[in-house]
Amino acid sequence: MKTKIVIGLFSLAFAIGCSTANKLPNTEVITNTAQTIDLAQGKILYEGKCGRCHGLYEPTKFSAAEWKPIVERMAPKAKLTDEQKDMVYAYLTTP
Ligand code: HEC
Repeated sequence: MKTKIVIGLFSLAFAIGCSTANKLPNTEVITNTAQTIDLAQGKILYEGKCGRCHGLYEPTKFSAAEWKPIVERMAPKAKLTDEQKDMVYAYLTTP
């Protein structure tokens, strides 16, 4: 009886070990998808919140290093949360 439980636990641990190993490529897909959604949200936020006071600047107009202080300066004006600011920054600096 006891051995059966032990064997059961072993195969369970083995199965979990295997399934996490199998999930590794999937995690990458999920991360990429999450990133794409963030970029899409960054674009929506940028177009919705950053064009209120002035025209929208082309993302390519500034480098990532130049965008950094600009986004920091403009985020409070556009009332962005830290998370939204990161998404806008990611959108502006991802080619
Ligand atoms: C409440 C009005 C307002 C909002 C909202 C706003 N801006 Fe601005 N923005 C300004 C003003 C005023 C200036 C010019 C003065 C300055 O550079 O601070 C400016 C300037 C800029 C410039 C030119 C900077 C330079 O150095 O040439 C960029 C790029 C810019 N904003 C991007 C953004 C982005 C990105 C957002 C959204 C996160 C945003 N702005 C939201 C008012 C705003």
